[in-house]
Amino acid sequence: MNRIAKPLTLVLILAAGIAVAKPGVKDPGVKLRMETMDRMALNLKMLGQMSKGLMDFNVDDATAAKASIVAAAKDIPTVFKVHHTDPASDALPAIWTNWDDFAKKAAAARMAAELIDTSTQDGIQMSLGQIATACKACHTTYRR
Ligand code: HEC
Repeated sequence: MNRIAKPLTLVLILAAGIAVAKPGVKDPGVKLRMETMDRMALNLKMLGQMSKGLMDFNVDDATAAKASIVAAAKDIPTVFKVHHTDPASDALPAIWTNWDDFAKKAAAARMAAELIDTSTQDGIQMSLGQIATACKACHTTYRR
């Protein structure tokens, strides 16, 4: 049980404190990348809740949530390509000096998202650790 509970805790930590588009953000490019992140977090949270039975499990909803995460992860390199800045941003400048590594971490998240098994509640539960780890790997290095 512990093995499964751990990734879920990570998912809930990642999903905590989400406000869709941070207040006070002025730069549209920064706002867009934050919204891309928030979209992934909200859908990941939904999958986490479904896997725990806190939300009704439904294959179609789960698959739509997965598709949204995959699409947003695919957008990461595009929405971060230009170095937009805003005082409310938590993005570290290292993103643009280590672009190849940043893009690699984005690709890893996309791959983990593609591997989410939405066919059953257990399938979701078993897949969440990997995607949450991919989110965290990038945040640790490139987010304040
Ligand atoms: C390749 C790097 C990378 C990956 C992968 C990544 N993130 Fe992020 N994330 C960032 C960066 C950088 C920021 C800070 C953006 C800013 O403040 O300008 C961020 C910010 C966020 C935010 C805060 C958004 C806001 O409104 O301020 C959330 C929530 C988030 N990420 C969730 C996720 C989730 C969930 C995943 C995995 C499904 C994920 N991220 C994967 C780099 C990444």
